[in-house]
Amino acid sequence: MESIQAIKQRFGIIGNDAGLNRAIEKAMQVAPTDISVLVTGESGVGKESIPKIIHALSHRKHGKYIAVNCGAIPEGTIDSELFGHEKGAFTGATQTRSGYFEVADNGTIFLDEVGELPLTTQVRLLRVLENGEFIKVGSSKVQKTNVRIVAATNVNMFEAIKKGKFREDLYYRLSTVEILLPPLRARKGDIHLLFRKFASDFAMKYKMPSIRLDEIATEMLTKYRWNGNIRQLRNVAEQISVLEEDRTITADTLRQYLPNTTGNLPAVIENSKSESDFSSEREILYKVLFDMKSDLNDLKKLTMELMQNGVSQEVKDENESLIQKIYGDDESEEIFHEDEVNAPVKLLPLAPEVTVMPEDKYHFAEDVEEEETLSLHDKELELIKKALERNKGKRKAAAKELGISERTLYRKIKQFDL
Ligand SMILES: Nc1ncnc2c1ncn2[C@@H]1O[C@H](COP(=O)(O)OP(=O)(O)OP(=O)(O)O)[C@@H](O)[C@H]1O
Ligand SMILES: [Mg+2]
Repeated sequence: MESIQAIKQRFGIIGNDAGLNRAIEKAMQVAPTDISVLVTGESGVGKESIPKIIHALSHRKHGKYIAVNCGAIPEGTIDSELFGHEKGAFTGATQTRSGYFEVADNGTIFLDEVGELPLTTQVRLLRVLENGEFIKVGSSKVQKTNVRIVAATNVNMFEAIKKGKFREDLYYRLSTVEILLPPLRARKGDIHLLFRKFASDFAMKYKMPSIRLDEIATEMLTKYRWNGNIRQLRNVAEQISVLEEDRTITADTLRQYLPNTTGNLPAVIENSKSESDFSSEREILYKVLFDMKSDLNDLKKLTMELMQNGVSQEVKDENESLIQKIYGDDESEEIFHEDEVNAPVKLLPLAPEVTVMPEDKYHFAEDVEEEETLSLHDKELELIKKALERNKGKRKAAAKELGISERTLYRKIKQFDL
């Protein structure tokens, strides 16, 4: 078996980091089997070389190796690309076409960005993984294929599963063995090594002397976050190689090529914060809304009772407590005399019922809230107005009729500008 160093050389992999070595060793171990492998890691960490190693060290090495970027193929054509189609399967399908799974029979398919596969394609893929069967688009004939699948993703698959974007069963089927490539910032010892290699490559390519970093610049390079990982490091090395006349690079020069990631951090934190604030704000809004609705229903019930039974002590108490509940006024010290509150009350027209169906709570919260506030307000205003009219503006009598204290009525008159 080839040594890990030989493999690195063969596939142009630079670095001696323990995490990187572990990933390569794992690829070498699983290569001779047909086990499905999922390669994970941030963007730009070098995931693409892993399936190549696996294919090259497997008994399929003389078979085809096809790399498919699942994220780059439009949803409408991906099934046809992967599994082929029959003539006439859709507009433009003038000929029967073989898909990658047919072409790569006895070979390896690398499904890059597998998290981007549409759910319908995921179902087809699951079937291939389970029994090697697939059906061309527009066909009913089941075909067989013998393909080894290596997939890669830079997204959190558990998140995707939780959001219903990726089938859990497929995830487990794809990730029998998972190979994780560590981010560049976790391979500090390799950063300068990679930079020197890229600098020398670009010096050759552009026929210029190689750039080199001074001591402080080297330190800056090593401490940087490298969110874009090795791809970003390579780009930075290329830009500096092309643009800087002075081939000794100082920290000041290097800084100009490194986006300020720490400067970006607070924005990210702020974003996530405001999002959670937003959702809790929305929850509060819903709560207020539903409290209002229940207040409104109480008011309705009260009006009905008034209409049916006149004002009983019970109703009066309920009314008072309702008003307190809505306006938060503590008037518990107010005492009513039973004989003050038994005057019959005229019937008032009821406002049309406002019902918030449970399913409505998710849309148009503002509209519903406004409607409810308005009708609650209107209804109360009307009750008070009518009571005052009937009692020729006498507040004491009107308050009595309404079953509220004079003080509350007085406050409401002011509030509603009656
Ligand atoms: N250890 C390494 N040594 C040399 N070059 C590397 C190494 N790792 C990655 N690269 C180079 O960095 C670039 C990015 O690597 P690659 O395309 O494999 O990233 P990736 O993990 O597939 O990212 P993405 O998720 O964005 O597709 C490539 O040009 C690759 O050759
Ligand atoms: Mg990639």
